[in-house]
Amino acid sequence: MPEPLSVAVMASGSGTNLQAILDRFTGRDSARVEVTRVIGSRPGIGALDRAARHGVQPSVLPDVGDAESWLGSELAASEADLVVLAGWLKLVPAAIVRAYRGRMINIHPALLPAFGGPGMYGHRVHEAVVRSGARISGATVHFVDEIYDHGEIIAQWPVPVLEDDDAERLAGRVLDVEHRLLPAVVGAFAEGAFRLDAGHVRWTRPWFPGEAFEMNGTYFTQ
Ligand code: GRF
Repeated sequence: MPEPLSVAVMASGSGTNLQAILDRFTGRDSARVEVTRVIGSRPGIGALDRAARHGVQPSVLPDVGDAESWLGSELAASEADLVVLAGWLKLVPAAIVRAYRGRMINIHPALLPAFGGPGMYGHRVHEAVVRSGARISGATVHFVDEIYDHGEIIAQWPVPVLEDDDAERLAGRVLDVEHRLLPAVVGAFAEGAFRLDAGHVRWTRPWFPGEAFEMNGTYFTQ
């Protein structure tokens, strides 16, 4: 039996995306993917409690000192095959991005390249979408490069913007989709179903995993 894919998750918030990964790869599926480290950007965030409850030792980025060497040694110690930024709000030092090129992914709560970039995080994203009058938003998983929300897009899933949506309602509907999309992409990476090849994402099959997304899924009707 091959070793499970070792995944390090970096988070800054309540950690519901982390939870979705932990829930997806338990029991029989823990043979495919194992979360070996959770890194929080500050103490007291929900993601750290979720990790501890799941038996994963969490660690917290110190607010003083050299973030690059601290992160480098944390990730090296975790022997991560894949690093997942699940709501990580700090800049990842360029040397770490380079060291994990093709092995570091991020989830963004909109359809990139629209509504991304510096300052576009959390509710600001959904406020901008609602303000713009766009009729569709969604979630994007992409490889991380040196520019915010810029790396090659791996997978996306659309979410309609409804007439009476405010940022909060839209955020909830997008978050439901994030919880399906992110574990699906992690599983696909573990299978070797896609990779970064000469700067482009190459899939060995259509990207959308039929078992994870049903066209009549509830998120279209909420
Ligand atoms: C998600 O919308 C994620 O896309 C974003 O921040 C939120 C994090 O939520 N960038 P959680 O911490 O996973 O609950």
